[in-house]
Amino acid sequence: MSYETILVEQRDAVTLITLNRPQALNALNTQVLADLTQAFRAYDADPSQRCAVLTGSEKAFAAGADIKQMVEKDAADFFLEDFFSGWQTGVVATRKPWIAAVAGFALGGGCELAMMADFIIAADTAKFGQPEIKLGVAPGMGGSQRLTRAVGKAVAMEMCLTGRMMDATEAKQGGLVARVVPAADLLEDALKTAATIASMPPMAAMINKEMVNLAFETPLNQALTTERRLFQILTATEDKVEGMTAFVEKRPGVWKGR
Ligand code: CAA
Repeated sequence: MSYETILVEQRDAVTLITLNRPQALNALNTQVLADLTQAFRAYDADPSQRCAVLTGSEKAFAAGADIKQMVEKDAADFFLEDFFSGWQTGVVATRKPWIAAVAGFALGGGCELAMMADFIIAADTAKFGQPEIKLGVAPGMGGSQRLTRAVGKAVAMEMCLTGRMMDATEAKQGGLVARVVPAADLLEDALKTAATIASMPPMAAMINKEMVNLAFETPLNQALTTERRLFQILTATEDKVEGMTAFVEKRPGVWKGR
């Protein structure tokens, strides 16, 4: 498959997707969304691929939705195109795990894209922000909701109202990112983490992802019931038999993916 705005490569069972619009600091235009949608669907459909990493450049993961594209549109265009809705169906709908490896600017839509990942690993150079207010707008790809759930109301509100950036240390303290690593180690660290996830039973990985996401979308009692049902579904897989037998026999499991 060929893409205009991203690079995609497979490293064993890990798909590495790199945003590649350096001239625009990886600003997210409709072509980036189309390319990412195609790449994430291909990843989800390929049984040989078990985890993905999305990254940008040293300077910018992504500096936001493409302002030069948006400046041309009026409110009717945004409404009639249901602008930004494709991120939900094209990226968030990915069923297999993926990690955002963030260095440099992750602003506006860039911060929102990183927060669509299952978790973020940040370089010590990472800067997160929702500066849309400075453009006379507000987040439109989930920032006001996901940032608030990640760091709490006070900090999210302050960031959205002032447009200030949060550095990697604060992002770690606030729970926005899983880990901070030196910039030079970011990709290696993210790929190693992805390889660990890729070595797990794939259905169990998908269901663990679904379960954790339930915590953000469902009342507790209902989520606990769904968690039990999903657990019970996993007990019907061949990989459950293999995983538990391998433990008892003191050997590594060999996964069938079903
Ligand atoms: N859209 C389009 N182009 C962008 C862009 C964006 N979001 N961010 C940067 N660029 C372009 C610049 O226009 C510039 O292009 P030219 O050389 O052709 O002028 C190029 O990328 C390099 O950018 P700068 O020269 O500005 O680089 P810098 O190092 O001086 O500053 C920056 C870096 C602080 C990130 C600055 O580029 C910036 O503030 N960018 C915009 C950030 C922003 O407001 N993001 C939110 C967008 S709105 C949004 O995302 C809505 C939503 O909720 C989804």
